[in-house]
Amino acid sequence: MSAGSFDFASLLPAGLPAPAAKWTGAPRYNFTGGNNDADQVPVDGLIAAAEAVLRREGRALASYGLKSGPQGYRPLREFLAHKLMHAAGISCSFDDVLIVSGSLQALDLINGVLLARGDTVIIEQETYQGALTRLNRLGVNVVGIPLDQDGMRMDALAAALADLKRRNVRPKYIYTIPTVQNPTGTILPERRRIELLRLSEDYGVPIFEDDCYADLIWDGRRPPALYAMSKTGGVIHIGSFSKSIAPALRVGFIVAGWQILSRALALKTDAGSGALEQMVLAEFCTPHFAAHVPKLRRGLRGKLETLMAALNEQFGTAAEFDDPKGGIFLWVKLPDQVDTLKLYQSALAAGVAINPGPEWSTNQGHSRSWMRLCFASPTKDEIIHGIAALAEVCRKEFGVPARIANVERRA
Ligand SMILES: Cc1ncc(COP(=O)(O)O)c(C=O)c1O
Repeated sequence: MSAGSFDFASLLPAGLPAPAAKWTGAPRYNFTGGNNDADQVPVDGLIAAAEAVLRREGRALASYGLKSGPQGYRPLREFLAHKLMHAAGISCSFDDVLIVSGSLQALDLINGVLLARGDTVIIEQETYQGALTRLNRLGVNVVGIPLDQDGMRMDALAAALADLKRRNVRPKYIYTIPTVQNPTGTILPERRRIELLRLSEDYGVPIFEDDCYADLIWDGRRPPALYAMSKTGGVIHIGSFSKSIAPALRVGFIVAGWQILSRALALKTDAGSGALEQMVLAEFCTPHFAAHVPKLRRGLRGKLETLMAALNEQFGTAAEFDDPKGGIFLWVKLPDQVDTLKLYQSALAAGVAINPGPEWSTNQGHSRSWMRLCFASPTKDEIIHGIAALAEVCRKEFGVPARIANVERRA
C-alpha cells in the first residue's frame, strides 16, 4: 500500500507523547534497557514445556482466559504463590495473584486504580524510567527521595511525609524497588523496611513494591518482601518473569488484596494476557525455576565482573561505582564535567548505547554525570570493546578519562 497523503495531524488529541522513532536496528554495543542474557534463556526447557502443556491442555486455548478465569492461568498463579512464600516470605493464595502482560501493565493498572491528575506520589529519587514517564504523563506530582548504599533514606522519607502533611497533601503511594533497586542496585535492609512500613502506616500512605529483580541477588539471600512484613495490608506487590526467564514473554503479576485486585481487573480490559506464555511458564517453572535461577545469577555475576574490570581498565578512577548485590545494571558516576545526555548522543553515533542518568532520576542536577549500564545482554567481548569505545568517545568529548588503559592521551 502507498503511504497516501491523508493527514492525521489535525485529528490528534492534545497531550499525546512525542511520536516514536522508527527502529533502525540495535547498536553494536548495547548497554541499555532491561534486556537479559540470550545464552541464559532456557530454550530447551521452554520447548519441552510448550510441547507438554500444549499436548495436554492445548484445547483450552479455545476459551478466553483458558479455564482459569480472568486472573490468569491457575497453575502459574499456584507456582507464584508457592515461590513467593519460599523466596519472599509472602503468604498468599493463587487467588491473590493477577497475571498481567509484563509488570509495566501492573504499573498502568495500579496507577489507573489510584491516581488522578494533580495527585502526589513518593518515589525513589533515582528510579525506573518506565515508572517516571508514566507518572509524568498522568500529570502526577512526583516527590523523589534520595538513596544511599542501603536504598531509600528513611530520614528523607520521614521529612517529605511530614512536609506534605503540613501542606495537607496525602500522597497516593510510596513506589519503591527495594530488592535490587533500579538503577542503583541497592537492597533495602530489613530494619529500613520496618521503618518504611511504620511511616506508611503512620501517614496512611500505601506502599507500591516493585520486586522484579529480587531473584537476581548473587548470594540468593534477600530480606522479606514489604508485602510479607506488612500487618495492615497496605502494600501492593508486583513482579515479573522478564528478569528471571525472558522479557519478551511479557508476563508479570500483581499480588494484592481483593479491594485492589478487583479494581485492577475492572481496568484490565484486554480479555486476558497471552495464555500460551503463561502455560509454558507454569509448565517450565514448577519443576525447573529453582535450578535455573542460580545458574542465571552466576552468569550475570561473571558479566558484571567483566564490566567492572573493563571500566577500571578504560576509565580508571574517572568511573566510580558500587559493586551491586545483584541484578543486571551498574550505576556509574563519571566526573562532574561529563553530561551523560550529551555523552549518550556521541556514544550512540559511535555504536555504543548507554542510559543517561537524568532519564532515571527526579533530580536532573544530581544525575547529570551518572549513567546506567546493563551488563546482561552484551557478550563479554562486547562489554570489553564497548567500554573501550565509550572511553574513547568520553575522552574526545569531555577530556576524561585522561588515561585510557593506563596510557596517557592528548585531548
Ligand atoms: C523496576 C522495573 N519495574 C518494571 C519493569 C517492567 O518489566 P516488565 O514489564 O518486562 O515485567 C522493569 C523493566 O526493566 C523494571 O526495571
